[in-house]
Amino acid sequence: MGLLAALAVLPLCITPALASDRSGKEVVDTVCAACHLSGKDGAPKIDDRAAWSQRASKGLDKLTQNAITGVRNMPAHGGQAALSDVEMSRAVGYMVSAGHSADTNKVYSSSKSRSGDQVVQERCQECHATGKNGAPKLGDMNDWKPRLKNGVDPLIKSAINGHNSMPARGGLANLSDAEMKAAVEFMVSKTGGHVGTK
Ligand code: HEC
Ligand code: HEC
Repeated sequence: MGLLAALAVLPLCITPALASDRSGKEVVDTVCAACHLSGKDGAPKIDDRAAWSQRASKGLDKLTQNAITGVRNMPAHGGQAALSDVEMSRAVGYMVSAGHSADTNKVYSSSKSRSGDQVVQERCQECHATGKNGAPKLGDMNDWKPRLKNGVDPLIKSAINGHNSMPARGGLANLSDAEMKAAVEFMVSKTGGHVGTK
């Protein structure tokens, strides 16, 4: 009984004990909030989606790069040189989405996460539409069938971690696990295949 209760409570207190990199939320709360909460020195505020989406129009990669190198009154790494690039990209993803998505340490199911369709359009189709570097083509059952022999779950795993010339998370470190799962399921559904993930 006690054990069951403990198990039921477990998902609520997620502590990414295995990851040495901090989550986007932790980094933002401890470092970036100092300026980005109040808008100090003209910093875009964390919950100001309009300000962020305007900046994000230059691409999340560019935004992350600017946060890493510093831009105008924004100090490099938010002034904390010890923050890794992964932590910075998580923090940027967290702020851009006003805390709703793109945190690689957390699986978000918020409706504000990008849909599989959106992620594929924004990122994955760049290679998967044409089959660049041998990427299995969108909608091509023959390309996908052999990869699907163990179901969709292993594909989600290899898309997150990278697989031969497939870059981890399609090269966008701040895509969340939930967004990656949605993107892979979307791609698989395009083949007419059955999506059987848990
Ligand atoms: C000392 C204050 C300060 C801290 C701490 C800080 N920022 Fe900023 N940040 C700013 C200011 C000011 C700007 C606006 C710069 C501009 O566009 O003129 C900014 C802008 C940005 C931008 C937009 C860059 C662009 O290209 O438009 C990103 C992304 C960003 N910060 C990320 C972060 C992250 C991630 C952290 C925490 C690791 C952080 N910041 C910590 C002050 C700060
Ligand atoms: C820079 C090009 C590129 C981008 C961008 C890209 N992929 Fe891929 N992807 C590949 C290549 C190349 C392969 C084939 C790798 C191999 O040999 O298995 C692949 C394979 C895959 C596979 C099959 C993995 C397996 O185990 O068989 C999945 C699933 C996948 N990609 C999902 C995605 C998703 C989701 C995105 C977007 C977030 C994405 N890819 C973005 C190039 C890309």
